[in-house]
Amino acid sequence: MCGIVGYVGKQKASAILLEGLKRLEYRGYDSAGLAVEHDHAFEVVKKVGRVNNLVAETAHHRLAGTTGISHTRWATHGGVTDANAHPHVSSDGKFALVHNGVIENYSGMKKFLLGQGYKFLSETDTEALVNLIAYHYKKEVDRPDSSRFLESVRKTLRHVEGTYGIVVLCTEHPNELVAARKGSPLILGIGDGEFLLASDVSAIISRTQNVVYLKDGEIVDVTPKNFTITTLDQADVAPVIDRVTWTLEDAEMGTFAHFMEKEIFEQPLALENGMRGRFSEDQSTANFGGLNLTPADFRLIDRIYFCACGTAWHACLVAEHLIERFARVPVEVDYASEFRYRNVPLRPNSLFFVISQSGETIDTLAALREAKRKGHVTAAICNVVGSTIARESDGGIYQHAGPEIGVASTKAFTSQILIASMFALYVARMRDMSFSDGVQYVQALKQAPDLVRKVLEQAPHIKEIAKRYAHHHDFLFLGRLSLFPIALEGALKLKEISYIHAEGYPAAEMKHGPIALISENCPTVFFAPKGEIFQKVVSSIQEIKARRGKTIVITTEGSEFPAGLTDEIITIPDCHEAVLPIVAAVPVQLLSYYIAVELGRDVDKPRNLAKSVTVE
Ligand code: F6R
Repeated sequence: MCGIVGYVGKQKASAILLEGLKRLEYRGYDSAGLAVEHDHAFEVVKKVGRVNNLVAETAHHRLAGTTGISHTRWATHGGVTDANAHPHVSSDGKFALVHNGVIENYSGMKKFLLGQGYKFLSETDTEALVNLIAYHYKKEVDRPDSSRFLESVRKTLRHVEGTYGIVVLCTEHPNELVAARKGSPLILGIGDGEFLLASDVSAIISRTQNVVYLKDGEIVDVTPKNFTITTLDQADVAPVIDRVTWTLEDAEMGTFAHFMEKEIFEQPLALENGMRGRFSEDQSTANFGGLNLTPADFRLIDRIYFCACGTAWHACLVAEHLIERFARVPVEVDYASEFRYRNVPLRPNSLFFVISQSGETIDTLAALREAKRKGHVTAAICNVVGSTIARESDGGIYQHAGPEIGVASTKAFTSQILIASMFALYVARMRDMSFSDGVQYVQALKQAPDLVRKVLEQAPHIKEIAKRYAHHHDFLFLGRLSLFPIALEGALKLKEISYIHAEGYPAAEMKHGPIALISENCPTVFFAPKGEIFQKVVSSIQEIKARRGKTIVITTEGSEFPAGLTDEIITIPDCHEAVLPIVAAVPVQLLSYYIAVELGRDVDKPRNLAKSVTVE
């Protein structure tokens, strides 16, 4: 949420900042702006709307400096206006600042600063922060020049309640950036004679793969030659330099029309990468290097809690089904945003798991911290390496799905299910699952990439269906057992990228209310795979048909339906329960994608949304 890029080096900063902003635009696209320092003055350009608007505007400016900061905004405090766009400049003109997060005590700060004669031009919380830095800078007049800028930022941050990732420029300290984080991600990229600061790696990957993941409470002071990291309490921090494993190409769209489309089609590869090196030599179970739990620890665990938000929460529901079904360990699933305030009585021998693609979702992080505070062993399934959640959990499993740029999660979702399914196997094999059942399960998992490829071959067929149904205003998605969460996910995908109202329900719940929605104007997407409750699902479809509802049925090969029951059929390969939710998710991703394209929606940047929700 909100993207930040900062640059200090020898090159013209503006071009590098704009390139970084384009790559970060998925984090927020209400407005964008940049500030470049040159000859002890700032040149600031801000524009409502997409980064391209800012690019057009910068054509009218010189922007000569080699040090600068930039921002793409997802509005929290204050409307979407040029004035509220970042960077914000202190009223004495000495500081410019970009901010990701929320300053909760900004109104007290603002009142104080107004009393001190500072002027405010925007409705944002950020402007209070930049003016408070200016205030402290003025007070620190006796401090040596070399540390005055840094110490003014440090002093200011000690007063802040809330979350921030900030990068600050000062006219009196050219070629220097001060940046800090608490609750919002910030990465330092170490380039060749240059440094970059960014909310995530995708913004800087074209210039360097060497990064330092800053931690909460750390401040970094950067010049073209050097950087130092300290804490708010002035303790020195020895930097840990990591190497990013993915490349620029992974973060580019290539020949696809949208990142979402690319990521849907990347799923076979993401699944292969998620499994690589993770099966035992005898091919009967999974191995996870980073869980930091021994088999003896696992024998003691008698309950697993899963927490997440949005799509990742749907992955938790699939995890619940698979773990209870195969490992026979009770699982409870909660929305992270609810869990953090509900004061849930966690049972002693519980494992607390979170799932997060970004590893930065604030509610999921808060839930994790709450469970840790209560002394529980925690673990995380994350895609983004080095993310806060990955670092703060006791153990974890990386998804290795590659960067997900499309705001609507697709490949990260199926990869989360894959990891959950492998985890179910891992626990099951430590309990009652036999060697031969384990071998069968592993074989099934290994087939998942090819099964998904088969579904992807049906993209043209699904596109045709999408064209026929795109004009409807309401949809129902119904599924049972492990496909109930996929029904929820199908409804969410459709809502978020096409703005069509959709609801997901367990198929048999339909009679308890949602059936009232059924008419020829409200089509139902039904998951009806072969299996023990196939006939029950067929009865539910019949109930829909009896009320003139249209049905799009997703079923497995070889299933037969009474004549006239299905308006549309999408056939997926028959497969093991361990992978069924993965395979079944793909048609609804495609359906939503093609409906959104048909309606001319901005698929990768749907309205009001942003990737990685780092504010409450
Ligand atoms: C929907 C979507 C969101 C995220 C949710 C959690 O397509 O992407 O619902 O799943 O915001 O994000 P992460 O997984 O990064 O914690």
